[in-house]
Amino acid sequence: MIRTKVLGLGSYVPDRVVTNEEIPFLDGRHVRQQTQQTETNDQWIQQRTGIKERRYAPNDGSVATSDLALEAAKRALADAHLQAGDLDCIILGTLSPDIHFPGTAVFLQKKLGIAQSTNCACFDIRQQCSAFVYGLQMADAFIRTGMYKRILLVGAELHSHALEYNNRGRDVMVLFGDGAGAMVLGPMETDDPRAGVMYTSAHADGSGALDLYLKIFEIAKLPYLDYDATDRERNEFMYPKMDGKRVFLNAVRGMVMSTQAALAKTGLGWDDVQWFVPHQANLRINEKVVEVAKIPHDKVLNTIQFYGNTTAATVPLTIDYWRQQGKVKRGDRILSSVFGSGFTWGAAIFTL
Ligand code: ACO
Repeated sequence: MIRTKVLGLGSYVPDRVVTNEEIPFLDGRHVRQQTQQTETNDQWIQQRTGIKERRYAPNDGSVATSDLALEAAKRALADAHLQAGDLDCIILGTLSPDIHFPGTAVFLQKKLGIAQSTNCACFDIRQQCSAFVYGLQMADAFIRTGMYKRILLVGAELHSHALEYNNRGRDVMVLFGDGAGAMVLGPMETDDPRAGVMYTSAHADGSGALDLYLKIFEIAKLPYLDYDATDRERNEFMYPKMDGKRVFLNAVRGMVMSTQAALAKTGLGWDDVQWFVPHQANLRINEKVVEVAKIPHDKVLNTIQFYGNTTAATVPLTIDYWRQQGKVKRGDRILSSVFGSGFTWGAAIFTL
């Protein structure tokens, strides 16, 4: 039987560390000002979210989301002992694409130097914080049917350019950071039903679509974009909007339910799983999920404290961070559960 194997893993975060002490003083260009631009503070942010710092990409026009994806992809390919030319498919999840269209996967394909061979299919997926599990489900289906044999699954986000550095945007702005995580997946022949990618589930409830969103434009209208980007009264379409309490409640429910279903449907218990890697939206959400789903505390991996929420990147980034720390090892079985804008959510069980 053909099953899907994780061949390589890699991640990347930019060098600049933005602490909770610094963030109230940043202007829209991420330049530290003498006076506070946003009324927020370390205590509020840590108490509500667990975040202490996050990483920001340069804002000089030199870095796009596909550049962050490229660094993570190169590391995942090296880990898999493969070349970019070996890939026959890229699945890229992001809510901060390089431009509106085409998707960011084709920009990544070009930066990987494999555009002209034309042998690598490119998909962009728009499941926000759930992109890793949705993408893994797609990759698993493609590999098991023999459609593709070397798939690069990447989550990458350049959030810091689309946040609002003032009181209007502070509830969202303090949460997010930039980063990327990538996995290379391929087929293996095995009779072991627990091997490789063992389980994936993906869910959605579109009635929550406008509880967490970023419009930028409305294609139904003409002109579809009718504000001056420098006009603060009218430019709020440029920034994410969130009903934090509804997101919180739905995230806990979706992640608990998908985690419990993953164990029930596979017949696994926590003794069979080495690590629980939840999406990194907010440490309080993850603590609640762990409490309600009765997940052993010593199996839980987080990075939200120092990377913030990197949306599509959080799961591979967190696994790779803890692998670099020597905690996660090849052969470990991981249960990951995610929740994101849409609402979308799901879970996966796989062996690294
Ligand atoms: N600093 C200081 N004060 C703030 C900030 C900030 N950054 N943001 C909001 N406030 C203020 C509000 O304006 C409000 O002030 P008011 O009482 O004068 O009106 C006060 O703090 C309390 O606001 P609430 O919205 O009631 O705060 P709450 O306790 O709900 O915490 C939070 C807000 C942290 C956003 C919470 O709702 C939450 O954790 N939600 C989950 C959202 C999340 O994690 N999203 C991640 C992205 S989604 C995803 O990845 C799945």
